Formats: sequence, C-alpha cells, structure tokens
Amino acid sequence: MFFDHIEAAPADPILGLTEKFQQDQRPGKINLGVGVYKDESGATPILKCVKEAERRIFDEEKSKTYLPITGIPEFGRLTRELLFGKGSPRVADGSAVTCHCPGGTGALRFGADFIIQQGLSKTVWISDPTWINHVQIAKSSGLRFERYPYYDPDTHSIPFDRMMGTLSKAKEGDVVLIHACCHNPTGLDLNPAQWRELSLFLKERHLLPALDFAYQGFGDGLEEDAAGLRAILENNAEALIASSFSKNFGLYCERVGALTVVCADKATAERANSQLKITVRTSISNPPAHGEKIVLTVLSDPELRAQWEGELATMRNRINDMRSQLAARLNDSGVGDFSFMQGQRGMFSFSGLTKDQVAALQRDFGIYIVGSGRICVAGINQGNLDRLVEAMAKVIRG
Ligand code: LMR
Repeated sequence: MFFDHIEAAPADPILGLTEKFQQDQRPGKINLGVGVYKDESGATPILKCVKEAERRIFDEEKSKTYLPITGIPEFGRLTRELLFGKGSPRVADGSAVTCHCPGGTGALRFGADFIIQQGLSKTVWISDPTWINHVQIAKSSGLRFERYPYYDPDTHSIPFDRMMGTLSKAKEGDVVLIHACCHNPTGLDLNPAQWRELSLFLKERHLLPALDFAYQGFGDGLEEDAAGLRAILENNAEALIASSFSKNFGLYCERVGALTVVCADKATAERANSQLKITVRTSISNPPAHGEKIVLTVLSDPELRAQWEGELATMRNRINDMRSQLAARLNDSGVGDFSFMQGQRGMFSFSGLTKDQVAALQRDFGIYIVGSGRICVAGINQGNLDRLVEAMAKVIRG
C-alpha cells in the first residue's frame, strides 16, 4: 500500500492542547494554551469595529472575483503605515512592498519560501526559546536554523551579552529572526539601547533582519510596539517583516497577515514584488478577501479606526491587569517571587513552571498551558483566577 509507512505525528504543542482541552469533560477546566484573547466572560469577542466593517462590506460588495496576487494595494499601504509610522517615506515611496498572506504564519512561510527561492540565505538564527512554529516553518521550507539564547531562567531576563555573543558566530548573509514586540513565549522585549545595538550589529555584520510582528498593540500601544522594528530599520536598508492582524483585530480565523519586503530602493522593490507574486501564485494563487477587506475598511475610516484603537486598548489593559493580579496573587500564596511577570508584555507570561508542573496542572486540575510554562494571560479572568493560583501553588509545592 502507498500510505502504510506513514507514521503518526505528535500533536501540535499549542493547537494540539486545544484539541485535548475540548475532549476534557471536567468542569472548571481552563485553556491557557493557545494565544487567543478572551474577555472577562471567557468569550473571544468579534470587535465592534469589525462587525460594522463586515456590515458595510456585506451591503456594498458587488463581486467575489479574485483579488490581485499580493492583495489590495491600499491594504498594503495601510499595513506599512502601521509598521513604519504615518510620516515615514517607506509607506509610499515604493521601496517597501507588502503582500497579503494568510495570517502571520502565512507571512512567515512566504518569507521563508522567498528567502530560499531568491537564494538570499540558507540559515536563519532563531531565538531560544521561541514560538515553536518558527522552527517548524524553517525546517519545512528548507532553511537551516541556529539558535541564539534569549532567556535566563535564573534572572527571568534576556541574557543580552550572551545573545550577541552567539549571534557574532552568524555568517555574513545569514537571516536573524527577531520578535518585534511581545516576545512569544517569554514576553520579554529588548530595551531601546539594546535595539540600537542589535540594529548596528546587523548592519555591520551584514545580516538580514526578519521581524515577526504578530502582536502590535498588545504591549504598550501601536506606536510604542513598533519602536524596535523602526530602530532596526534605522540602520538596515533591507528587511523582511511578517505582521499579523489575527490578534490585534481578533481576526484569527480570517487569516489576515502581511509580508513586507523592505528594499534599498524602488527599482529593487519592484523586482522583489514580481518574484513575490510567483511565491504566492505557486502556493495559494491569490489571497482570501474577507479579512483583508475588514482591515482595509477599518483602517481607512477615521471613526472605525478610532474605535479599533479603543477596543485594542481595552484588550491590552485587561491582559496587563490580569498579569498584575496573577503575579500579586502568586506572591501572596507564598510559593515564590513572581514579580518578574510584571516586566513581561503581550498575551503571554513565561511562568517558570517546569514540564512536570505543567503536566500536573493539566492532569490534576484540567488547566492547560504550553509545555514550556507559557501561560496565555489573555485567557485569565476573575472567574478562573482563584482556581489557577491555587492549582499553581499546589503544583509548585509538589
Ligand atoms: C500562539 O502562540 O499560541 C499563537 O500564535 C497561536 C498559534 O498559532 O500558535
């Protein structure tokens, strides 16, 4: 038989948790695995600005014909405005091109394919730890990967000197994948001086920056969260940026992301764009329209845009509040000092729980977090906080 030799693959370390959670029949189970925002009632809401945009699209849309291969040009311009800032020449001078991709994952995959297809590099440097799919995408697109240290478990901070020391082994032309904000899974971002140092280092060593920007607006704000990316671009004329609207628009299942290729000039960008079209055409042919039109509608209407920023701030503030409460309650429970969580940003807290403690949380309490100890803080609410803190304290005490 043709398929007999196929071996069963392990479940995905993040999405597989949701499957397991759904099969769990215990009342009081809590899913803090996948990075999906939930409100105080435990629901993942559709943003009001999104609902209004959908209403308008529904009323006004006249055709379901194909979109251009790289998406609607205005969607690309608005995406670049979020990345580079309104006043940046890169938004519209033609030196950067943007392609609508199916989610941030799609953008990463198209970026990796583009690197291989254009012979840009064979090696990508990935932070350790990182979002597990970075490694999987690198492997399946045919890139070799190396790791640079990004987390010191003793100090719960970024070992910046070691990180730079390891990166100094990178060869000219290698790609360095950087989380632009809200590092997944640690929640730790570089400070402004470190961003500057990294930026100059990449330029001097002739390394290609690839930025994964999946959480813009979930750290400190839309502009604040773009500061690291902009610091990199200050010294580097070329970069790849994978951005996502899954989280900040709550458009998870609509798969809206973008790959932006920043080039030294317009002529190069035009050539890059012509090749990007082939990357897309040979993969998904052209992008799905609905999510892209939602983003386009919201970002191009001042009222909807303001509403979006308000709704995004509500999500961000609730997450930060839950993180503070979790840290304070764990400190009160006397099982350790969790004040380090306060310095983390974005949807996740890297708790420091061991693999065994994570397994015990799942087995004994029906609480699902990622094996690395990553907790999706965006899934905590007043209704499940007590249970979570009690369970964590119990597994820590052993
Ligand atoms: C996560 O890290 O949980 C999210 O980015 C969702 C995913 O696809 O893994």
